Amino acid sequence: MTIATQVFHVDPVHPDPAAIAAAAQALVEGCLVAFPTETVYGLGADALNAQAVERIFIAKQRPFSDPLIVHLASLVQLESVAVEIPAIAYALAERFWPGPLTLVLRRHSRVPPIVSAGRDTVAVRVPAHPVALALLRACALPVAAPSANLFSRPSPTTAQHVLDDLNGRIHIVLDAGPTSIGLESTVIDLTQSAPRLLRPGGATVDALRTLLPDLRTPEAPLVTSETEGAVSPGTLLKHCSPRAQVVLLMGEAEAALHFLRKVVPMLIERGMRVGLLIFDEEAPNVANLPATLVTAGSQRDPAGVARRLFARLRALDRLGVDVILARTMGQESTRTGLEMAIHDRLFRAAEGRILDVAAPDAPDLLLGHLSQLKEERER
Ligand code: TXA
Ligand code: MG
Repeated sequence: MTIATQVFHVDPVHPDPAAIAAAAQALVEGCLVAFPTETVYGLGADALNAQAVERIFIAKQRPFSDPLIVHLASLVQLESVAVEIPAIAYALAERFWPGPLTLVLRRHSRVPPIVSAGRDTVAVRVPAHPVALALLRACALPVAAPSANLFSRPSPTTAQHVLDDLNGRIHIVLDAGPTSIGLESTVIDLTQSAPRLLRPGGATVDALRTLLPDLRTPEAPLVTSETEGAVSPGTLLKHCSPRAQVVLLMGEAEAALHFLRKVVPMLIERGMRVGLLIFDEEAPNVANLPATLVTAGSQRDPAGVARRLFARLRALDRLGVDVILARTMGQESTRTGLEMAIHDRLFRAAEGRILDVAAPDAPDLLLGHLSQLKEERER
């Protein structure tokens, strides 16, 4: 069934109250509304209406095993969606809300299980975007909202990205221009004996550790398989991926250039169109290679890279490349701040394929990865 998707252009700071009222009314009626947050655009429905929430999963083609985040207008509403809330949750909320931090807590029984994919926990955040806050206040409901993209595609940072994936599948899009952070919120689980990082994101681990010195972070990006009883199903490996096959390249700039000079012609010879996702610092090196070059910004500006990353991955898809060779962000084990979140998203876009450019067998490994992928696709 096709829905006529309505787009309302709103000012990002002072949104038109009439547009907000229309979107709020749509939520009250059980419809789907995409709205900007400071991280990415979300696809919202009344979190207390199981039927409305079900529509989110259908519109996104998201598996019902992947739980949603509940968005609130303020901390005051927290006790209406969560129970047995530990003191640290209030301390974190005071410090980080409104903002890009999601807390996993015990679910209140009035929140239908479908929101949390049947778990007895619920993920909650108060977003910082004025449009999101205006909408949440106007509808006076907790709003379940995953990112407003088709399942496993890069999250949307503009209303156009939302329409590219969901036009005709949702009722309203509030278009307030590009989002400011560009990567999703940080998710931490407070329901276990020790707080645990489930997804690095907009709120950095360094900032969180001032209140949570014992925050446990995974060594490498958390990965769970689709069949496993996943801790946080957003940790599925294939996530935020473009249609092209992504492979990450780690190592020094010199070695990367050497590697690319060798492998790009090999890939072209095999009939593949190659895209390169490179940082500004290395762009001049590779400008002469027969590949589609897209830059993600400067390595020294993680905030700028975070803002652009998903748009660049979508752009490479539009340019029609088959393979994307992307440089890793920062150095292994020394990543700080947003670098962790950027690496996490690149790693998922690459479905875990990462090569050391200095390794003598790296070109063979790359060809191996790609022929395996080709077979999987043809199957
Ligand atoms: O920045 C964001 O978080 C954006 C904006 C729209 O708020 N939302 C977003 O939602 O990224 P989504 O659905 O794409 O990601 C939600 C993440 C997933 O990794 C999901 O598995 C995890 O939160 N999550 C949700 N509820 C959970 C729960 N009860 N336990 C563990 N993880 C949960
Ligand atoms: Mg998502």
